[in-house]
Amino acid sequence: MKTAIITGASAGMGREFARHALTVFPEIECYWLIARRAEKLRELAGELTGKQVVCLPLDLCDEASFAALEEKLRAEKPELALLVNNAGCGYLGNVGELPTALQTRMTKLNVTALTAVTSLCVPYLSRGARIVNVSSIASFCPNPRMTVYSSTKAYVSSFSRGLREELREKGVAVTAVCPGPMNTEFVGGIKGRSRAFDTLPYCDPSRVAEGTLLSARAGRAFYTPRAFYKLYRVMAKLTPQALMVKLAKT
Ligand SMILES: NC(=O)c1ccc[n+]([C@@H]2O[C@H](COP(=O)([O-])OP(=O)(O)OC[C@H]3O[C@@H](n4cnc5c(N)ncnc54)[C@H](OP(=O)(O)O)[C@@H]3O)[C@@H](O)[C@H]2O)c1
Repeated sequence: MKTAIITGASAGMGREFARHALTVFPEIECYWLIARRAEKLRELAGELTGKQVVCLPLDLCDEASFAALEEKLRAEKPELALLVNNAGCGYLGNVGELPTALQTRMTKLNVTALTAVTSLCVPYLSRGARIVNVSSIASFCPNPRMTVYSSTKAYVSSFSRGLREELREKGVAVTAVCPGPMNTEFVGGIKGRSRAFDTLPYCDPSRVAEGTLLSARAGRAFYTPRAFYKLYRVMAKLTPQALMVKLAKT
């Protein structure tokens, strides 16, 4: 049975990925939804009519969750057609000022969990399968005041590029998506405290999710929504980093 795994499916863009996968990947019959809030996952499961849905309420900052996922994969041996590594978090604040627990939560969820979930899932990916990794415009250049977050997303983009080459022979394509700010729970704690988040154009999570899945279906390596951020990406490539980092302060 063709199966999709989506992390961070209880809210924001993760929920939109599940909704749009119904039309972009109609052949997928089973969804495994991962996040901490079980009731939100069950709510979403109710929307995925005609599909088998498995809700996995796991805290991906807790390494015990990797063992639980490994066990589930070994028991079910799913034919994975889509993996969406979407769960992520970001906090505003200088290193040494923001509580250490928040800084390390970003590295645990955005880097360690994304790596572990991918590593566990790769053996179950079928030919033609797709991996989507959620990066950010923050990956283009270090963002002071969100230095840890932007570094984790630089990892996600770099990891995606390398993994894509590793999986080419297996017939699996990897796509990294680099959205700008979106009105989700994520920005709730940042808005009003950051000039960048208060002035930059926002992306719509539903449109980003749909565009990403279409890009993944087409086998593209990267998807950056909105012309404004495509231009920013080129600018960040061409401008010396010592200058970019001053412009990219959050
Ligand atoms: N919003 C933006 O401005 C923006 C811009 C660029 C990129 N992104 C990226 O987009 C992705 C999705 O973010 P979003 O904006 O949709 O944020 P969101 O609304 O805060 O959703 C985050 C999702 O991750 C899950 N999650 C958080 N901590 C978790 C944990 N420890 N274990 C398992 N799941 C966990 C949350 O579910 P539970 O709370 O139920 O666990 C939720 O489903 C992230 O990777 C983020 O970095 C966001």
